[in-house]
Order: sequence, then structure tokens, then C-alpha cells
Amino acid sequence: MIIFNNGKYKSLLAAESNELAQIKSIVDSDQDFRPVYHLAPPTGLLNDPNGLIFDGEKYHIFYQWFPFDAIHGMKHWKHYITEDFIHYQSAETLIPTELFESHGCYSGGALPIDEQHFAVFYTGNTRRSSDNQRIPFQNLAIFNKKGELQHKRPLIEQAPEGYTEHVRDPKPFYTPDGKIRFVCGAQRQDLTGTVLLFEMDNLEAKPRLLGEIALPQFDNSHVFMWECPDLFKLGDKDVFIWSPQGKPRESLQFQNNYHATYAIGKLEGLIFKAEYIAELDQGFDFYAPQTFAGLSNKEETIMYGWVGLPDLDYPTDEYKWHSMLTLPRQIRLKNGKLSQHPAKNIYENLTALQRINIENQVEIANLDQAYLKFNADNRPFKLELFHNEAGQKLGLSYDGKVFSIDRSHTKQTERMSQFGCQRFCEIGHLQDVEIFLDRSIMEIFLNHGEKALTSRFFIPNRKNTLYTDRSLQLEVAYPSKISL
Ligand code: FRU
Repeated sequence: MIIFNNGKYKSLLAAESNELAQIKSIVDSDQDFRPVYHLAPPTGLLNDPNGLIFDGEKYHIFYQWFPFDAIHGMKHWKHYITEDFIHYQSAETLIPTELFESHGCYSGGALPIDEQHFAVFYTGNTRRSSDNQRIPFQNLAIFNKKGELQHKRPLIEQAPEGYTEHVRDPKPFYTPDGKIRFVCGAQRQDLTGTVLLFEMDNLEAKPRLLGEIALPQFDNSHVFMWECPDLFKLGDKDVFIWSPQGKPRESLQFQNNYHATYAIGKLEGLIFKAEYIAELDQGFDFYAPQTFAGLSNKEETIMYGWVGLPDLDYPTDEYKWHSMLTLPRQIRLKNGKLSQHPAKNIYENLTALQRINIENQVEIANLDQAYLKFNADNRPFKLELFHNEAGQKLGLSYDGKVFSIDRSHTKQTERMSQFGCQRFCEIGHLQDVEIFLDRSIMEIFLNHGEKALTSRFFIPNRKNTLYTDRSLQLEVAYPSKISL
């Protein structure tokens, strides 16, 4: 075992006594923005969900984690186990301790092995000492169901020929004949993004590269990297989710710096024939989603996303914590598209459900931890939430064609506002609007999950006010707080 400690490439094992406790006390001084029912890092930076697997009894959730600061430093895999997405038990963290992961355990996915174990595939980020050149390893770690690491080893020790050092984020699955395959995001030598498919006869075998999966229906111009690919079946369709980087921004969708995208269709050999391609979530902050392995329902699956994006900073960075995960989302096919909303358990544990008629301005107790639902009746509306004395507020509206979020009157970092302060989502015939608010995050689902918009918002010293420009019948309830 090696204890790495080189600038920001510092492992948990190199923590000085009391160091994390001191960072935690800075995190705890944040009185405004810590969520109560979303998974956020105890200290430091969270990014992609990783290694998601249902082991037959419990869900294992890992995420990319740098414990020491709100920066992208040495990545660990923070690990939790839960049965209900409310009570979480901490399990063994995947910590970089070997040369094949010397600069971080980067993203990857999980694969069931037997009754007692599962495997995680992940990228070992390394840098060659002679010239600091990045060398991507693809590694394998075995965990038992109790969440204990059994062993780990490298599978692939460099990028395949024809690709740059940006090859990462293996997501494994079984073929119908029991072989193991995994997809990896990659960048070609000509600096365009793609996805590679590898195959192994079994867990002991050496992976062989089958080639790139082509996605001819996707316009890949300007795209320089594909991150976090995920390939799975829903019913009789193949679904491919990935996070391309470089796609030009558009005015009513693909509005962020990078985007999480999905394709539905049929994988034939190495060609994915897409029938539909769309952005997965149209909010300000959503990236690198991943679905669970090990679920038995073939018609739906559960997905987490990172409520954040690369190259962004947030007002909570000064409190030494950054980002969180979405709620677990159930996703399934509906009319040839993906439909998504929080997992059943989240709805079953809503408390204090009340129905109120609102007009003009109301104060709703703990609005910033509430679930709101109403029927827009396909008519325009304007809502403003969380006024404070500095005149800050959050705007949500619908003009009959486009649903919008306006965070121009909220606290933002320069980089947050670099790509504009509004986000739009075209949606004809808007009926059902659901909003999950959790202090500095909102997850919005329109028409029972036809569209999703996930965003952070920062309004300090806010009042729990809600203003509406027309009367609405509102359902209000409170999701259960999580315990860690
Ligand atoms: C996506 C990503 C992955 C990488 C990980 C590193 O957000 O850049 O491609 O494995 O984050 O933390």
C-alpha cells in the first residue's frame, strides 16, 4: 500500500489528525445551503455517481469524492449502502493506494458476481513521473455485500492505439451468453469523442477491444470527448446514456457547458441505430448520470446524476463542500422517450401532505425542504420563491410553450452565470408540475417525468415565501430527511 500525498493528489490515508474534523466544522458553518434529503459530501467535492448496484438486498451507492477541499483533487469512491434511500450506512471507501491509481480512482460502474460479491470497474488516473503525462488504467475491485473491499488489480494499463490519454469511465454488463462487456468514454487521436466496447470471457480474462460503437444519428461535430457512457436494455430497446463534451449550446436545450444525453434504439453489432436522441435533463446542473446494475425489473431502472458540472464552482465552495447527487430516479420508456421521476420510496415517505389554494403571496413552512405539486392546466403562470432582504428570489414560469427557470436574482459565482441565468424547456400541453426543493437544489419534473430540470440555487437568509400570479391548487408535502 502506498500513501499518496502530493499537492492536491492526497489520499485519505494521508489526512493529518483532526484535519477532516476541522474541514467538517467549516462545512457545518454553512447555515443556508446544506440539503436534508439529498446525498452531499461530508466534506470536500462530490462528482459522478459510481458503482451503483443492487446486491439482491441492498443498494450500494458510490460517488467521486475529494475529501479535503471543494476542488477536483485526488478522487476516492465514497460508499454508502441503503435499503430505502432514506437510511444510509457508510461502507468502505475505495481509496487510491496503488501505482495503477496513483492520481485518483476515477469513475466506473459495478457488476454482480455471486451471492456475496460484486465487482467495480473504474479508471485509475495516473501520471507518468518523467513527464507528468496522464496514463489511464482501467481497474477492477471486488467488494463483498457488507461493503468491504476484497482486492483490486489493473485490467488495462494504457489507452489503446488510436486514442489519447482520455479513455475512462468503464461501465460493465453481461451479454446474454455470460461474457462481460464494458463501455468506456474516449477521445480519438484526432481529438473527437467516442465510446469503446471491450469484452472479457470472465473476470480473470484480459479484456479485448471490440471497437467503437457508432452512433450515426448523433451529430458529433465539435464534440471532443464522451464521458460516463452507460449501455443497458429497457424492455426490448437498447438505451445509451453518455455525457458528450463540446456539443454547441442551443437556446432552448443543451444550454450548459456540457450535457448528459441519451439515445434509444437498437444496438446491432457495433452500430447503435438510434430512434430518438435527447438531452436527459434541461436544468442548470446535471451531468454524468449512471443506472444501477443488479435490478431485476426489465422495464425500468434507477439512476442517479451528479447535480453539478465540470469546470463550475459554487457559493458553497467557501464552506469546503461542493455538489450533491440527485434523488434516485426511476426511469422507463414512455412513448419512445425516457420518463423519469424520483423512486417510489421517496413518494411513499412524503409526510404532512396538505392541499392549499394559493393566490398572490403565501408563506409555506419549510418551503425550502418541500415537495410541491400542481396542475398548470396548460395555462401560463409565474412563480417567485424565497425572497430575501437583498431582493433575491428564484423564478419559475410557463408561457404556454416554454417552461423557464430564472436564477438571475440569486447568488451566483462568475462561472455559474457564464452560460446565462435562465434555462428553458419546450413543453407543449403542460399539466403536471412537481418540484422537489432542498435548500440549494431543485429537481423539477413536468408531465409525470416527460421532462426533468435539475438546478442548484443559492439564496441566503431566505424567507419561505411563494408568490404566484394566478390562483393555484397546490399540494405540499415533505420528503423524509436522510440519515447517514
Ligand atoms: C466526469 C468525469 C469522468 C471522470 C471523473 C473524474 O465528471 O470527468 O470522466 O472519470 O469525472 O472525477
